[in-house]
Amino acid sequence: MQYETVDFGKGLTLPCIQLDLTGSTDAPARRELKAQIYPLVDTKGGLLIRNTGIKDTRQYGEFLASIEFSHHSYVGGTNPRTEKGSGVYTATELPPSITIHSHQEMSYLDTIPDYVSFYCELPPNNGQKTNLFVDMRKFTANLSNELKSRYRGKRARLQRTLKSSEQEGFSQGEKSWQEALGTGDHQEAALIAQERGWELTWKDDDSLVILQGPARFFRTHLIHGELWCNQAMLINPVTSRRVAVRDGRLSDVEKLDQVRAEAPDTINQMFLENGNTIPDTDVESWYDLILEMETHFALEQGEVIILDNMLVAHGRGAFEGPRKMFAALGNRDSGESTMGAN
Ligand SMILES: [Fe+2]
Repeated sequence: MQYETVDFGKGLTLPCIQLDLTGSTDAPARRELKAQIYPLVDTKGGLLIRNTGIKDTRQYGEFLASIEFSHHSYVGGTNPRTEKGSGVYTATELPPSITIHSHQEMSYLDTIPDYVSFYCELPPNNGQKTNLFVDMRKFTANLSNELKSRYRGKRARLQRTLKSSEQEGFSQGEKSWQEALGTGDHQEAALIAQERGWELTWKDDDSLVILQGPARFFRTHLIHGELWCNQAMLINPVTSRRVAVRDGRLSDVEKLDQVRAEAPDTINQMFLENGNTIPDTDVESWYDLILEMETHFALEQGEVIILDNMLVAHGRGAFEGPRKMFAALGNRDSGESTMGAN
């Protein structure tokens, strides 16, 4: 497949093609795309498709079906999302004032999607660059060897307190346990958790403490070898505070400081498998590096990108005005995972 290479900045380059994705799925260019897209993404980290002609989520879903995109379940996911059908979700329902720091999708769990795709239906105005990306091969190479050696072979667990959607004070943009587990039935929720090794504890007010994982810090990519692949430093009060400061959300900073002082157990956070917290200094050095390596990009109207979820981290910058971005999560169809036992 002929492609050009686009420089996304901060050392990240990805292949890019221009292709109408609304025409016949049997056209030679589409057949070639279907045959070559996954090996290309596995090798290069992603593929950007421009001038697709896609106008809505139905067409995006049809395109994904035409390349046999194998959808990955979002059960247990942290991000508030709405499913639009055919495995297509809103990218996030979090308010525009909040930066979603760069991450590898669902890497607070041990089983993650191999691919993450985005479709831009409406870019934010004035060229605001809201798509954040990090080349995780370069990131891993730049992490200090001393830090890497301490986390190699280790795992972390995510502890969250999720309110009930029935609960007083439940707010829009917040994720309920019913939404996170895809059911409102306590027994069904318990079964879902049991199958995955998660621990559930309901409180008297029907809020739920969920302990997920454990998830590896390092995983082995089929082609590119060992990579940092975990959100333990991200889902941490030190990072939450720095992101809030970055966004200028000073009332959130105050609120976080208060909760940290008064009820630290209620903060969503990843712990080491042995229950220890991650040292603040490690979180700080992880944050400093990933922030330094994060590039800001603007997907244009109708553009579709498919990323290898381990090779390229993604996020969303804070923005103003309307924006419509959709996402889909995929698995390698062959059943061959890029993640070896590590
Ligand atoms: Fe994400």
